[in-house]
Amino acid sequence: MRSILVVNPKGGCGKTTIATNLASFYAVWEVPVGLIDLDPQKSSSDWLKVRPETASTIQEFSGVKRKGGFPSDLKRVIFDAPAKTQLASVTRLIDMVDVVLIPVLPSAIDIRVTAKFIADLLIKVKVRYKPVKIAVVGNRMQANYKSSMLLEDFLEKVEIPYIAKIRASQKYVQAADAGLGIFDMTPFTVKVDVEAWKPLVNWIEQKD
Ligand SMILES: Nc1ncnc2c1ncn2[C@@H]1O[C@H](COP(=O)(O)OP(=O)(O)O)[C@@H](O)[C@H]1O
Ligand SMILES: [Mg+2]
Repeated sequence: MRSILVVNPKGGCGKTTIATNLASFYAVWEVPVGLIDLDPQKSSSDWLKVRPETASTIQEFSGVKRKGGFPSDLKRVIFDAPAKTQLASVTRLIDMVDVVLIPVLPSAIDIRVTAKFIADLLIKVKVRYKPVKIAVVGNRMQANYKSSMLLEDFLEKVEIPYIAKIRASQKYVQAADAGLGIFDMTPFTVKVDVEAWKPLVNWIEQKD
């Protein structure tokens, strides 16, 4: 089983959007997947509640569990972290996962908060014995936006990979309203968006 934590103390950067869409990706490809909503606002939990019965299955689990605490046939589990997560609890969470995804919006305020979070995180992670993969995902990206370039400049400086650029698209909003991810939608309507997830999923699945 591989577990993935989606985290950034900044609210509204796309944690739930990334977590739910990733869950829908695995579900559509028939990989047994679980979703754990750690946010008291319960957005991914609410999303699962409106997910149509006809859509591919995503199992819900509550609370933080260690690896042995999941059904043995579960292949992927995704943790949707709350905003304002304290570094201490993030480090505890990181001990339980294999992959950490940090969504970032291309705005100066978000980049500053995220840069500080990443710097603190890297200090904590350095003293761990268990390897963990960490990457940044640009969310709501728009070509040629000054702030998008600011984000790219920042990411070049930190030593963690910048694996995908998810564009701002109403498809995410429409999908979320219906308890779906873009992978559940008619493929030709979301072709560009689906394409943007390939490097992200490939990076998660890469054995290293
Ligand atoms: N790529 C995107 N395109 C359009 N809207 C987005 C995108 N990513 C997130 N949103 C919207 O922005 C809002 C905040 O996103 P959300 O995933 O809930 O962030 P977080 O979980 O970090 O607080 C939601 O209304 C969501 O639908
Ligand atoms: Mg959220």
